[in-house]
Amino acid sequence: MIPENTGPAAVIVLAAGAGTRMKSRTPKILHEIGGRSMVAHALMAARSVNPRQLAIVVRHERDLVARHLADVDPAAVIVDQDDIPGTGRAVEVALQALDATQPLAGTVVVTYGDVPLLSGALLAELVATHEKEANAVTVLTAVLDDATGYGRILRGEDGTVTGIREHKDSSEAERLIREVNSGIYAFDAAVLRDALAHVTTDNSQGEKYLTDVLGLARQSGGRVAAVVTADRWQVEGANDRVQLSALGAELNRRTVEAWMRAGVTVVDPATTWIDSSVTLDEDVRILPNTQLHGTTSVARDAVVGPDTTLTDVTIGEGATVTRTHGSGAVIGADAAVGPFTYLRPGTVLGESGKIGAFYETKNVTIGRGSKLSHLGYAGDAEIGEDTNIGCGNITANYDGEKKHRTVIGSGVRTGSNTVFVAPVTVGDGAYSGAGAVIRKDVPAGALALTVAVQRNTEGWVAANRPGTRSAELAQAATKDSSSTPASTEEGNQP
Ligand code: UD1
Ligand code: MG
Repeated sequence: MIPENTGPAAVIVLAAGAGTRMKSRTPKILHEIGGRSMVAHALMAARSVNPRQLAIVVRHERDLVARHLADVDPAAVIVDQDDIPGTGRAVEVALQALDATQPLAGTVVVTYGDVPLLSGALLAELVATHEKEANAVTVLTAVLDDATGYGRILRGEDGTVTGIREHKDSSEAERLIREVNSGIYAFDAAVLRDALAHVTTDNSQGEKYLTDVLGLARQSGGRVAAVVTADRWQVEGANDRVQLSALGAELNRRTVEAWMRAGVTVVDPATTWIDSSVTLDEDVRILPNTQLHGTTSVARDAVVGPDTTLTDVTIGEGATVTRTHGSGAVIGADAAVGPFTYLRPGTVLGESGKIGAFYETKNVTIGRGSKLSHLGYAGDAEIGEDTNIGCGNITANYDGEKKHRTVIGSGVRTGSNTVFVAPVTVGDGAYSGAGAVIRKDVPAGALALTVAVQRNTEGWVAANRPGTRSAELAQAATKDSSSTPASTEEGNQP
């Protein structure tokens, strides 16, 4: 007795095909849309119906595919297809592998690894219909304007499904049929097992067709039916890169729309790209030309964009991130980033902090309320709270061989163009002068100056650049133009 709360006995995902039309060294099903491989999308839909077993049939580039599967669904049973070609053979070898432990009973679902928009909901509907009607086979179909290439659904005069005819094997009259086989089915395990034993390769392609199971099931008295979906995208596969991008765009359209319905403002859905794995809170605002990838998450009231690309970035409540390129960063609540900012992995910006224009950061922890407002690089560093890093500051973290850390305390004020030659530590409340090169630790509360001497050579322009606009203006500005050149020297001020 099967408990009511479990799904089908198994889902078998077919993924042995070569995918030659992709013209790629990457196996077709590993190509991504929405930040996930096609096969990962397929497996998530398959998992969502809660099957007791999940098998995936591989052959082409099987090692690459298997390695990917270990990442995205390590519990999936990987089955290798042999030399006998065809969807029927693929299912047969999977069934044999699954039956080896204990013969399957109940519903077996078959899906494809290259149909990425199929939803768990539609798959669940297929299974529910199949089980409610006690069918031998239930096939998911769609009515297309152009059915070229697809297997056509054959129906009797009373409308019941009688079989599937492959395009290549079909007559002129059959080619006019617009209802097509999606390749996604629910089968009764016993019917499937028995029928597959009788499927031959006697057809135009010399393959074992899974579609032949429908006719055989009917012959042995089983009920065959169809679930027709009006949503053609859910049954569409990607055979080449044109279809891949069309599916990617449609997936994105759906993702963006779902987020808008969940309370996110998306100013321009057409230029906003959001991976399936991104999470957004209510009242987030996304401005045009923004791409959010990976595990990026954005908390309530934050504003992201325009022209921002973020991968695996966590954004706190009320933060703003403008014209920024970032990955692997954490941005605190009410913090501000951008415009023209490059956040590299390990950047952690505290609450109400700021990383401003033309800043690059990497592996740096910045405390609450600290500001790095303009033009600089902060890497391998730790900065305390309420510190103000002046314009153009650099952490010189690389000695040519190794990286070193810079530690800057809280309440620090650094002058413009300060360079921290790591390893170096600056104490709380310390100051540095403009242009300081900090090679030694600065104690708390100290002023660090690098005293370079400034020398003014008066009349230098008149003597060395005569007749230039500079000389002309200098002469006009100098009351006593006959004064002799002189030099003055003075130490720097902070
Ligand atoms: C198949 C169906 C067709 C349906 C179409 C929908 C058959 C005989 N035909 O046709 O009715 O309209 O899908 O897209 O089933 N695969 C394997 N092993 C194989 C062959 C294929 O695992 O030996 C996998 C492929 O990787 C792919 C899927 O099965 O994911 C379908 O294979 P494909 O060659 O695209 O099938 P079609 O000939 O298009
Ligand atoms: Mg084929």
